[in-house]
Amino acid sequence: MEVNKVVSPDSFRESILEVLCPLLFPGTSGGKEVLEMVSIKVIGVAVLVLVVVGVAAFLVFKAGEQGKKVLKVGTSPDFPPFEYVAANGTIMGFDIELMRLIAKKSGYDDIEIVSMDFDSLIPALEQGQIDVIAAGMTITEEREKRVDFSIPYWEADQAILVRVGSGFKPQRVEDLEGKTVGVQTGTTAADYLKSLVDEKGLNINIKEYSSYVLAIQDLLAGRIDAVMVDTPVAKMFEKRYKDKLAIAIIVKTGEKYGFAVQEGNKELLEKINKTLQEIMQSPEWDKLVQKYFGSEKLPGT
Ligand code: ARG
Repeated sequence: MEVNKVVSPDSFRESILEVLCPLLFPGTSGGKEVLEMVSIKVIGVAVLVLVVVGVAAFLVFKAGEQGKKVLKVGTSPDFPPFEYVAANGTIMGFDIELMRLIAKKSGYDDIEIVSMDFDSLIPALEQGQIDVIAAGMTITEEREKRVDFSIPYWEADQAILVRVGSGFKPQRVEDLEGKTVGVQTGTTAADYLKSLVDEKGLNINIKEYSSYVLAIQDLLAGRIDAVMVDTPVAKMFEKRYKDKLAIAIIVKTGEKYGFAVQEGNKELLEKINKTLQEIMQSPEWDKLVQKYFGSEKLPGT
């Protein structure tokens, strides 16, 4: 007696393939061969799709990057609270945050901070390596010949910082006679000290530093007698090195800070002036001032 063969689902499928495949894929023997062919094709197509999608996504991303409007901001981050290096290594400060607000309001997507020595900023701007200088830069006639300044956003005088307990307590600039005074190269403080030597005939040993942070380190270590720096910054260093540094003299120079753009860059200058004015009249300004000038500790330090 013949036992009826039970047809398993597998062999059932195979027999259908056996019949259909030669019809659908002429030239194949059917079944397994087609299955293999199909799965190789499927993998091939999947890989191709992945590659195409990946390349497309990359291109879209790149196009987005290139279309992004980024304002290149040059600074010398040794001038707290206007610009300084925070504990985590990022460059922070009043100027930086103000510039970020200005850029945003002027239609930029982002800012890029380019850090360099103070005396390299104007040459970098002239060469187009940066779009704007945000560095507590005093608006001077001399600089006006090379760059265009925004409306003023801060005022400052000059201060002489000395080391507490050093015994040196000058009361007038004439008391700097015979002393070594540190300054940052290219600053108005450096110019002022040079004028004391050239015009007043004082015998001052001017020691120039690429960064105010280095000048302060030398003052703390007793390698120099004093540092001349803008009053808001001197006050910050005094606060930071309480009981170690003190302001001995203030020279009323009546300086005004501005942001600098390339000579003739009207478009950017107008944007900066318009948005700066708006910000200065808004509560954002007071918030910013409070954040960088009002607290005991500098943000991020
Ligand atoms: N206001 C002074 C000047 O324009 C000093 C500026 C120094 N700025 C700085 N980021 N280190 O000469």
